[in-house]
Amino acid sequence: MKIEIKKGKPAEYPAEALVVPLFEDSEAPAGGPRFFDGTVGALIDDVIKNGDFQGKLYQIAVLYTRNSVPAKRVILAGLGPKKDFDLEKLRGAYAGAARQARALGLKEITFCLDISDTGQTFRQMTEAALEGAILGLYQFTPYKTLEREKIKVMDRITVVDDKDDALRGIRAAAKTVERVAQAVYFARDLVSTPGNDMTPSDMAQAARRIAKHRRITLNVLDVVQMKKLGMHAFLGVARGSDEPAKFIILEYRGAKRGESPIVLIGKGLTFDSGGISIKPSENMEEMKSDMAGGAAVMGAIMAAAELGLPLNVIGLIPATENLPGGCALKPGDILKSFSGQTIEVVNTDAEGRLILADALTYAQRYKPAAVIDLATLTGACKVALGDHVIGMFGNDGPLKEKVRTAGEQTGERVWELPLWEDYHELIKSDVADFKNTGGRAGGAITAAAFLSKFAGNFPWVHLDIAGPAWLAKDKPYTPKGATGVGVRLLVQCLRDWKCDASPA
Ligand code: BES
Ligand code: MN
Ligand code: ZN
Repeated sequence: MKIEIKKGKPAEYPAEALVVPLFEDSEAPAGGPRFFDGTVGALIDDVIKNGDFQGKLYQIAVLYTRNSVPAKRVILAGLGPKKDFDLEKLRGAYAGAARQARALGLKEITFCLDISDTGQTFRQMTEAALEGAILGLYQFTPYKTLEREKIKVMDRITVVDDKDDALRGIRAAAKTVERVAQAVYFARDLVSTPGNDMTPSDMAQAARRIAKHRRITLNVLDVVQMKKLGMHAFLGVARGSDEPAKFIILEYRGAKRGESPIVLIGKGLTFDSGGISIKPSENMEEMKSDMAGGAAVMGAIMAAAELGLPLNVIGLIPATENLPGGCALKPGDILKSFSGQTIEVVNTDAEGRLILADALTYAQRYKPAAVIDLATLTGACKVALGDHVIGMFGNDGPLKEKVRTAGEQTGERVWELPLWEDYHELIKSDVADFKNTGGRAGGAITAAAFLSKFAGNFPWVHLDIAGPAWLAKDKPYTPKGATGVGVRLLVQCLRDWKCDASPA
């Protein structure tokens, strides 16, 4: 997908389809009357007066201009009531318009983004509209071999404006969006790819691709190296599979050598069958998405490098399958983690926390300024919060605030759950230091409490993305399936890292 920027008046540009945003029950387009007076204005008036379009949120209408203006079509995109306006709605509205254009078989769509008087900056709105459209157009098709010619693909989005300062802003927004969206697409592709083609080795290979030609170094630890280090919690999980586990380490150094890095940790279960505590077969195929945290970390590091952010960022991705092979973990087994603490494995399906425990210990060696882990960790979090929000836990107020703010800005919102002492009781073991589950009650919290035992002396946030990582139904700018959730959240967090925690 290419973003093209053209100088000129939108009403004079020979677009296949020109998107015109409208607030609910407003007379004039939100895009500003200076663009749409005269004939287009009359066309729009007509549909509104006839009651066919009210500007309701995500409402779409296609108008044919019959050569009255150079654009062949005008796509009206409803923004809903002006008082409820926010960037999330803009993302969804432009995604809807772009998807409509694609459904019509168009290869190109044209935006003019002069939406006035909303309390948001032009730059923010431009980024949101472009980002929403591109993210909404995502499709995963490499495995479709039949009737490929019927797969509709958009080639470009053109943005037209006649003012030089606006064009400068659009250019900057487009550059950012291209890089961020590329990273989200990358993460979605990784998660969508089935387990047979996305093994731990394939993940390491994908990491190699992003490190190439960028200021990123890659180091992959194999099983022999991990044994030497003593990462037996991670290796315990890996024992059930014939696919060799990999510990993927990506280092982006955009700041001075000595500056403490931000460490991002992503759960990389390329397939989670549950192991000996095997899962029910219904929907088990979705467990190819159990590496969504790892994919998000890779995407975020890729975007950080592309954007040249002035930070040191490390990505740690423990990657393995969880299968019930002949050497698999058994309930009751006790593992000695990399930290030295021992873990009684009560349920082999609570494997994510085992591999993350060793990754958290590994993070310590960087003396990190902060550690953020992302994991499709618990079904319990999905039950508690659904797929609209990420569960957040952490030990540091300012870091949580940074993540919360980035969540509001990107629409990848987080909701904090408690890490109170009361819950820590539930993961005490009779025979080892901890056990790997605390039972059904408060499952997302006891999982986080477990992780906290391995989060060393650094500000730490744990994000449980089990709900939003995979969607059963489309959302306004997120097609069903792999969402790439976490990439934009992390990138926003990193972009704002050295600013104040309050929204810009
Ligand atoms: N990967 C799953 C969690 C999950 C479930 C993510 C559904 C997305 C959708 C995780 O490894 C798991 O199996 N957790 C168990 C923990 C339990 C055994 C304590 C769960 O949530 O059931
Ligand atoms: Mn599991
Ligand atoms: Zn899992």
